[in-house]
Amino acid sequence: MKLIINGAMTVDGKIATAAGDSKISSKEDLIRVHKLRASVDAIVVGISTIMGDDPRLTVRLAKGKSPARIVVDSKGRIPLESQVLSTARSVRTIVAVTSQAPEEKIAKIRETGTEVLVVKEGSGYNVAVPHGVDLKQLFLSLESMGMNKVLVEGGGELNWSLLRLGMVDELTVTIAPKIAGGRLATTLVEGDGFDQISDGIKLRLERVVRKKSGELVLRYRPT
Ligand SMILES: NC(=O)c1ccc[n+]([C@@H]2O[C@H](COP(=O)([O-])OP(=O)(O)OC[C@H]3O[C@@H](n4cnc5c(N)ncnc54)[C@H](OP(=O)(O)O)[C@@H]3O)[C@@H](O)[C@H]2O)c1
Repeated sequence: MKLIINGAMTVDGKIATAAGDSKISSKEDLIRVHKLRASVDAIVVGISTIMGDDPRLTVRLAKGKSPARIVVDSKGRIPLESQVLSTARSVRTIVAVTSQAPEEKIAKIRETGTEVLVVKEGSGYNVAVPHGVDLKQLFLSLESMGMNKVLVEGGGELNWSLLRLGMVDELTVTIAPKIAGGRLATTLVEGDGFDQISDGIKLRLERVVRKKSGELVLRYRPT
């Protein structure tokens, strides 16, 4: 499986403001993201991204079919009125939960036409998510469903877990010429982090694109 993380951040590394506004990319960059979506089998996001943004995660600004949408949500907190659940009958939608999710909520999620995968617990080196979804098991299940190219669209906690587990093949980040500030604003990679920079995940810069908007689109590969 090929796993790509894509995100948009301000120059100070924020992917949303402390108040939760994550509209960082230009229209030009959103078109690039929609083309990328049309080229993958699935888009994966963490539950806090659904709670904060209520995204549709579909292909609208490019030609092509919307891929499946996967939400990593150990406790089954996803709102039944969220856009991904409301459109689950037209775009394949899977919520990955653990045994922490209540049976009644799982049944209600399934009633929307959404598939629910019950995955074992595994934190992915993340103290903030001690009983999260075991991401290795989840991605093996996705692979067995024929999903071989997967795009992860955040947020920071999910990005950390996947990077820390060494599961990421490519990281593309758009840097918008803006500063958001805010010590509580979410950054591209959250989680527990490393104590030493020398222990950090090393990346090779593979591509740099400078957009008319002043944005930089950087593509990295973990080494
Ligand atoms: N600019 C961008 O490109 C961009 C993209 C996406 C999101 N965002 C912003 O990012 C923010 C959300 O990011 P976030 O870092 O707070 O959360 P997140 O990564 O979207 O979701 C994290 C949550 O997912 C669940 N989870 C289950 N298993 C996990 C595992 N193994 N590893 C990690 N998480 C797991 C946990 O909740 P449970 O314990 O309840 O399961 C965890 O708290 C929002 O403000 C959104 O607007 C920005």
